[in-house]
Amino acid sequence: MQTLGGPAAGPGALRPAANPPHSPQRAAGSARPVNAMARINGWLLHPAVKPAVFVLALLPFASLLWGAVADTLGPNPAEALIRGTGDWTLRFLCLTLTVTPLRTVSGWHALARLRRMLGLFAFFYGCCHFLAFAWLDMGLDIGAILRDIAKRPFILVGTLALLLMAPLAATSFNRAVKALGAARWQALHRAVYAIVLLGLLHFFWMRAGKNDFAEVGVYAVVIALLLGWRLRRAWQRATARPRPSGK
Ligand code: HEM
Repeated sequence: MQTLGGPAAGPGALRPAANPPHSPQRAAGSARPVNAMARINGWLLHPAVKPAVFVLALLPFASLLWGAVADTLGPNPAEALIRGTGDWTLRFLCLTLTVTPLRTVSGWHALARLRRMLGLFAFFYGCCHFLAFAWLDMGLDIGAILRDIAKRPFILVGTLALLLMAPLAATSFNRAVKALGAARWQALHRAVYAIVLLGLLHFFWMRAGKNDFAEVGVYAVVIALLLGWRLRRAWQRATARPRPSGK
């Protein structure tokens, strides 16, 4: 299960796999990868990892802010800020969706503790993106913002994606999981799949006007792989489930 900004681990995220890669079964086959995996999990559990990822995730923001202050963002700083924050929103969404496949394939289960932070950074950059647009493009004129959202379909799609992110960010804390119950919480957080697809459509629509699809194509492939991996796993689980015996 993937979340936008779910609890560090999400319900069951640190639950050991049925046959974890570091299990004795695997260990019997090959001791070295098991040791390497345990070592990497050990590093990931180091108390410095979360603050380090936090600082790294803030670097794009700091770089854009510095560019604006030092006037090094090129001839159109407003456009550079809107586009830069839009790019990082999509990148953090992709990074958040990478955690589950990566930890499943690699056995680096401690990665799960970074997922909530990555999801919340996607929301943070999404809010900066919206603010940059509302302020630098629209002069914080609410009427003009609403008219633009209604007039330009790609802006409407982006707005929908951002609105869908809000409840996920708001329920990303452990107390929200308890309050909602794991099943309802997981169902709500499945919205992240719709959000990333809306984000991609928003980007595609914007670039379609310029007939420039190269970058969008790269994101489309990455997102197809991330969602395809989940579909395959869901299919495998459904077909592996024992059928109820007929009468
Ligand atoms: C999850 C939400 C969103 C994502 C992932 C997203 C992502 C993006 C991306 C990747 C770009 C293109 C950047 C580039 O060209 O390098 C972009 C551009 C843009 N987005 Fe968003 N966006 C989101 C929400 C929004 C919202 C809520 C608005 C405004 C209400 C908005 C307005 C814009 C505008 C005005 C541009 C630039 C268009 C241009 O320069 O022609 N986006 N966005």
